Amino acid sequence: MLHSGAMRPSDPRVAPRFQRRLLSWYARHGRDLPWRRTREPYSVLVSEIMLQQTQVDRVIPKYHEFLARYPTLEDLAAARAADVRRLWYPLGYNARPYRLHAIARETVAEYGGRLPETDEGLRRLPGIGRYTAGAILSFAFGRDAAILDTNVRRVLSRVFVGPRRMRRVRGEKFWWDLSASLVPRGRGYDFNQALMDFGATWCTPRTPRCGRCPMKSFCASYPCHSSSKSQPPSSRTRRAAT
Ligand code: ADE
Repeated sequence: MLHSGAMRPSDPRVAPRFQRRLLSWYARHGRDLPWRRTREPYSVLVSEIMLQQTQVDRVIPKYHEFLARYPTLEDLAAARAADVRRLWYPLGYNARPYRLHAIARETVAEYGGRLPETDEGLRRLPGIGRYTAGAILSFAFGRDAAILDTNVRRVLSRVFVGPRRMRRVRGEKFWWDLSASLVPRGRGYDFNQALMDFGATWCTPRTPRCGRCPMKSFCASYPCHSSSKSQPPSSRTRRAAT
């Protein structure tokens, strides 16, 4: 049931309210993260590949170390894969360093050392899926591209769908379309960074801060936030967004 004063998620006033409130929340509570101090595409790429499977606080020192060792795409392309992997190792033994290295080589060989500025171009590179392409387009190129990862999906599902309607939502397309429909024109950078932080620090999986949430007057899951029913269904094996 909607609590008193609540708006239905389909109410056309909800989306603009969500956008405004998220952006002002971000201005107050957004995190100062090293990859937000640059728009340089290579640095954004490195951060996003690292963040695919690793928490922010573990990524920060490695991000600095990696860029100090390989300051440009060309430096990375010229490196030996085994050395890249060795530097990466504390973040986990997996395919990400090889993919990043392959991206660097391919970008140098095919695109003159500049990352493509389109979704299709980015997604042709190894290890860049829809999420990472959206992140690079918005964080490096300032585009109003959509992003969707576990945190973003949880925020959108709680605010716009709620526990009662959750079972009816099927498939990825719904969430991508919703995410895309919300990006305010010209504000893709801040809006997407804000969504990430809001999901990571406020609208968290188990203990969301609903009492101080700027969305509570229209959130479809408020006040029954912490119920697991307000989580979107996730696949059994949780895969990192790429
Ligand atoms: N996770 C993935 N991308 C991120 C970003 N730009 N900021 C914080 N967390 C992230």
